[in-house]
Amino acid sequence: MAKRKKAAKAKSKAAAKKTAKKVVKFTAKKLAASNGLPRPSAKPWGQAGRALDGVRILDFTHVQSGPTCTQLLAYMGADCIKVERPGIGDITRGQLRDVKGADSLYFTMINGSKRSITIDSKHAKGKEILDRLVKLCDVLVENFAPGALDRMGLTWEHIHKLNPRMIVASVKGFGPGPYEDCKVYENVAQCAGGSASTTGFRDGPPLVTGSQIGDSGTGLHLALGIVSALYQRNRTGRGQRVLCAMQDGVLNLARVKLRDQQRLKHGPLTEYSQYGEGVPFGKATPRAGNDSGGGQPGWILKCKGWESDPDAYIYFITQAPVWTAICDLIGKPEWKTDPDYATPPARLPRLRGIFDAIEQWTMTKTKFEVMEICNKQDIPVGPILSMKEIAEEPSLRATGTVVEVDHPTRGAYLTVGNPIKLSDSIADVRRSPLLGEHTDEILRKVLGYSDKEVAEIKASGAITAPEKPTKAEAA
Ligand code: COA
Repeated sequence: MAKRKKAAKAKSKAAAKKTAKKVVKFTAKKLAASNGLPRPSAKPWGQAGRALDGVRILDFTHVQSGPTCTQLLAYMGADCIKVERPGIGDITRGQLRDVKGADSLYFTMINGSKRSITIDSKHAKGKEILDRLVKLCDVLVENFAPGALDRMGLTWEHIHKLNPRMIVASVKGFGPGPYEDCKVYENVAQCAGGSASTTGFRDGPPLVTGSQIGDSGTGLHLALGIVSALYQRNRTGRGQRVLCAMQDGVLNLARVKLRDQQRLKHGPLTEYSQYGEGVPFGKATPRAGNDSGGGQPGWILKCKGWESDPDAYIYFITQAPVWTAICDLIGKPEWKTDPDYATPPARLPRLRGIFDAIEQWTMTKTKFEVMEICNKQDIPVGPILSMKEIAEEPSLRATGTVVEVDHPTRGAYLTVGNPIKLSDSIADVRRSPLLGEHTDEILRKVLGYSDKEVAEIKASGAITAPEKPTKAEAA
C-alpha cells in the first residue's frame, strides 16, 4: 500500500513538472508575442537597417533649430524631404558664404543626408503637391514664425484630416503666453531662457555662449519629442502635435541655475567663488564665471604658452577624493594635513588661493601634459580645445563625430556626424542637397506623378522660381 502511494506521488510530481515546463514555455512564447516584437535579427550588427528606416519626414524647416532636428532624424535613417521656396531655398544657403556661388557651411552642416524639393507653398498647384506629401509622410517638422504654417493653409485640422497619423512638430520661440507671437533667434532664447543672466563674470555683463543651445538645443529636444510621438503612434494609430519652445529648451539646459535660485533662500551658494571672496549674494542666481556648476570646485587655469596661444588653458577640478594627489603634484604636501585645506568645507573660502597655486604648476606644462599627468592620477581636467584642434583630432574622425563629405559646388567640407552612437544603426552621413536637387525624383518616385503631370507642374510655376523678365520685357 505504501509502495503504491509512493509511486502515485512520484507520478503526480512528474506530471506537475511536465505541466510547469509547458506553462513556462507557453508564458515565454506568449510574452514574446504580446509585446509584438519580431524575433531578434540574425543579421550582423549594423547591417539590419537603421533605426528610423521607413519614417518619411516632410521637412519644412529653415535656419538652424528645425534643420538640426531633421538632420539627426536623417542620420537615424529617416527619409527627410526638405521643402524649399523655389529659387531661394533655406535662407542660410546664402548666409555667411565663404565660397562664391556655393551653399554656405551654415547650410551644408545642418542639412546633410536630406533630399531637397522646391515647392511654392502659396501656389495652388504647390498646395496640391504639399497635400499629397502630407498624405504620404509620417512627420511634418517646421520652425516658421508663429502663424506662417496656418497662413499656408496647413492648419493642424487640415493636416489631421488628410492624414490622421501625421505628427506635426514645431519649434517656436516661446510657448503659449505673452510672447507667443514673437520671432526668435538663438541669442534671444539664450537670454529669455535664463542662460545669459547666469553666464559670464560677476563684474561683467550677461554673456551668451558659443554653443547654440537655443537653436540646436531645441532641435535636439524636438527630435526626442518626434521619436516619442512615433512610438506612441504604434499604440494609438494617430499622430499628435509636438511643440518645443526655445525658451523652454534653454531653461531645461540651464536648470541647475534654477536649482541655485531656490537654494539662495537657504543661504549663500558656498561653491561659488564669490562666497570665498566674501561678496554677498543678491536676490537672483549670479554669474559664476568659470566656477564648476556641480559640487566639485573647478576653474580654468593657464598652461605653458598662454601668453601667445589664446587656448593654452585647462579646466581643473579639485575633486575631494584626489585632493592629496593634487597636493603632492603641485608641491604643497603640507596642505594634506593642514586643517585650513584638508577638508572640502575648509577649502571653500580659500579656493582662489588654491587655484592660484595649482596654476603656478599648470603654467609649467602644456595643457596636454597636464592632461596626461593628471589623468594617470584620476584627477579630472579638461584641455581647452580650439576648433582647429578639434577639426584635426584623429579620434573624432575615427568615431564618425567629425566627418569629411564631398560637395559638387564647394568641394570637401567637414561636418559633425551623429553624436548619438547606436550599435545597430550606423549613421550614413551624406552631403547636403543642392536646392531642388531631388524635385523630379520626389514628384515621380514618392508622389507618383506621371510624365504628363510632372510637365504640367513644371509649367505651372509651382516648383520653379518665376523667370526674371529680360531687359527688353522689363522696358
Ligand atoms: N513657398 C512659399 N512661401 C514660403 C515657403 C515656400 N516654400 N517657405 C516659407 N515661405 C514663407 C512663409 O510662408 C512666410 O510667409 P508669411 O509670413 O507671408 O506667411 C515667409 O516665408 C517667412 O517665414 P518666417 O518664418 O516668418 O521667416 P523669417 O525669416 O521672417 O523669420 C525666424 C525667421 C527664424 C525668426 C522665424 O521663422 C521664427 O521665429 N521661427 C520660430 C523660432 C525659430 O525656429 N527660431 C530659430 C531659428 S534658427
